[in-house]
Amino acid sequence: KKPAGAPDKALARKVTKVGVVGAGLMASQLALLFARRLEVPVVLTDLDQARLDKGVGYVRAEVDKLLAKGRVSADQAGRLRALVSGSLTKDAFADADFVIEAVFEDLDVKRKVLAEVEAVVSDECVLATNTSSLSITAMASGLRRPERVVGFHFFNPVAVMPLLEIVRGDATDDATLATAFSVAKTLKKSSVLVKDAPAFVVNRLLTRFMGEITAAADEGTPLEVADHALDGLGLPMTPFTLLQLVGPAVALHVAETMHAAFPERYGVSGNLATLVAAGKPGVYGSDFQIDPEVRTLFEGG
Ligand code: 3HC
Repeated sequence: KKPAGAPDKALARKVTKVGVVGAGLMASQLALLFARRLEVPVVLTDLDQARLDKGVGYVRAEVDKLLAKGRVSADQAGRLRALVSGSLTKDAFADADFVIEAVFEDLDVKRKVLAEVEAVVSDECVLATNTSSLSITAMASGLRRPERVVGFHFFNPVAVMPLLEIVRGDATDDATLATAFSVAKTLKKSSVLVKDAPAFVVNRLLTRFMGEITAAADEGTPLEVADHALDGLGLPMTPFTLLQLVGPAVALHVAETMHAAFPERYGVSGNLATLVAAGKPGVYGSDFQIDPEVRTLFEGG
């Protein structure tokens, strides 16, 4: 069934090569998904070789897991490994038809990155952004061809979560949007067209959910109680595990965006901000015990 608001699919352009800006966890997951489903070359770029190696290494390790589980054949695994590569320069995007950025959630950084990509790609190349909460219209403004920019927002873990929010900016044209829907279908994602509003649809709810649970902890409810009290609701993950999965810095950024847009409706957890400022990667340790330093930050020691 055609998703509501999707343009005529005849307008969609063919995608024969994909560029991914960033080689962090989200970007690497995207690279694997695009290579696996579109079966086209995918190039990751990042600022330094170490990050690039980590990103490509993640893809290789995930391909090994797929092979071990029998989800792909040895031939397919070999092809997947060959399809994904890393490059330190965006020149590698010159013949790409679809470039997605998954860099740090900062409007100026994303605008700069998109302008750099636009300088090397063809006029027809779609520029997609995996932003969690920022305005697509603002991101596209200042580009030579803002009509080629579209929001393409995935959820963690990318391989598993079926949803994709597609966001049309004020300038986005029908061919770009049709290409986005067509790519989403090939990726086997269930796409919805959402308005270019702060945090779109899903993260408005998640921010509320995470915001209230971190507020409860801020107000003195012990972390385990705040977290496990919700187990009985049948959620797939406890809230602090989800916070760990999403990444505290991303969750904080979305909360700040929502607070700036709707100050009375969305707060920002002081403890979450402290946690991120302290550079803690997550709320739980790898053994799913609460990290003692995190406990000190949240509960005052
Ligand atoms: N990467 C890749 N695959 C993963 C994975 C990961 N991080 N985590 C789990 N999987 C795979 C497993 O390998 C398994 O695959 P298999 O069937 O091939 O073996 C499959 O997912 C199911 O995993 P589990 O058996 O561990 O099953 P669970 O029942 O524990 O489900 C879950 C795991 C699907 C992650 C589930 O806990 C869940 O749905 N959690 C909620 C996730 C969520 O809400 N995400 C949205 C976050 S918001 C966001 O990303 C937006 C951003 O802008 C902030």
